[in-house]
Amino acid sequence: MGVKEHLDVNGANHLTLHRVDLVSLCEKFGTPLFVFDEASLAENFERFRKAFESVYPKVMVCYSVKTNNNLAVCKILRERGAYAEVSSGLDLHIALKAGFSGEHIIFDGPFKPVEILEEAVKSGVLLINCESFAELERLNIVAERLGVKQPVGLRVNPFKPPSFFRSLHPKTLLEEAAFCFAGCRFGLSLGEIREAFKRLKSLKHLRLECLMTHPYYRAVDVLMPLFREAVENFGFEIKYLNIGGGFDPGTSGSTGDLLLALDYVKRRIGLKSSLDRRKPVKNIEDVAKAIVENVKHQLGSLPTPGLMAEPGRFIAGPSALLLLRVDHVKVAGGFKWIMVDGGTNILPSFYERRELLVANNVSVSERELVNVVGPLLYPKDFIAIKAFAPRVKEGDLLAVLDCGAYSLSSSTQFLYPRPPAVLINSQGRVQLIRERETYEDVLAKDRLI
Ligand SMILES: Cc1ncc(COP(=O)(O)O)c(C=O)c1O
Repeated sequence: MGVKEHLDVNGANHLTLHRVDLVSLCEKFGTPLFVFDEASLAENFERFRKAFESVYPKVMVCYSVKTNNNLAVCKILRERGAYAEVSSGLDLHIALKAGFSGEHIIFDGPFKPVEILEEAVKSGVLLINCESFAELERLNIVAERLGVKQPVGLRVNPFKPPSFFRSLHPKTLLEEAAFCFAGCRFGLSLGEIREAFKRLKSLKHLRLECLMTHPYYRAVDVLMPLFREAVENFGFEIKYLNIGGGFDPGTSGSTGDLLLALDYVKRRIGLKSSLDRRKPVKNIEDVAKAIVENVKHQLGSLPTPGLMAEPGRFIAGPSALLLLRVDHVKVAGGFKWIMVDGGTNILPSFYERRELLVANNVSVSERELVNVVGPLLYPKDFIAIKAFAPRVKEGDLLAVLDCGAYSLSSSTQFLYPRPPAVLINSQGRVQLIRERETYEDVLAKDRLI
């Protein structure tokens, strides 16, 4: 799935997408350049939807707008029937501008000040998924002021502190304990949910219609007992179960501090690296089937709720590549460094292990261990760390696959204006979907005093 399926090579040994020569594209638009494949976006969305719709009667695929908030990307997904999951005032604005109607928008997120809640209620969003008692009280006041009975969901957080011994595992220490198990702050804890049910009975301007959690792995086991309780003991008419996101497209791998450190040790003692060994990812059809079987199994005689999911990376991630120019190659500290013209300013996820191709010399067969790094003055400005990549030289064009998620929406103007993005359709039509920023764009809101 993804842009890779539609790539080819032409007679000049250049990479093409739907017959568009990507080297010529860079001559026209410059680098760095994001290239989106409309067919991949549509295919990934359709595949996700069909995976669930083929096994369940009521499915709503709520595209997670923050993953890639480009207007054209959002519009393409809206036209195919996606709902939008938004998690800020900006996200909401973008979704509305991309043509989503309020009834096709659900609002998530741990931070919703009064003004944002007002905007959401006024826009007629389908649901606001609440994450705290404070938010419920606040939203009730807003809904009363605006004269509506607002449909809401409750986000459940199934976090349980790990046992003492599990918390000493290096992975837990490095990735969770070091940051206070930061994920525990999202939503209401299992212990708080019943209290929230009670509270909602007295909040007259809210109507509980949804139970949600994120990510999807444990969603059904977490949500189903609460669904039963909400319906049978509290008399709520719960219309939707929302299983969140977390759907891995499986097209690129990822690593972490611990694995990177272990890799260093392994290489020093002459062992082979395992950084590029990918954990196999279950295909989405099997994931959907397992989720739905579990829902049906636990549903019994309860009314069938609509099933919502909030995929982001699955749809947007594999749908784009990033073209970068190799500025120069250098050797330092015993490593080879490929210096390119874009780094974590435009592609912040340096743990990802993405496939690299040389767009102007696709058939190059020699591979070597390199670090591909951007232009920032920041030691961790990695596009690819310890990657076994095709050999490149100064001036080459590097194509980095799987760059559609958390790139356009997460890029910054740190040291460089943000790059452009184009969309190519299956007929080879190229459309600019984000213009290259100029220095003056970066300064547009500054005032000289
Ligand atoms: C609440 C929520 N929903 C959906 C998503 C999208 O997740 P993914 O892109 O992994 O499917 C996220 C991402 O962090 C999220 O926080």
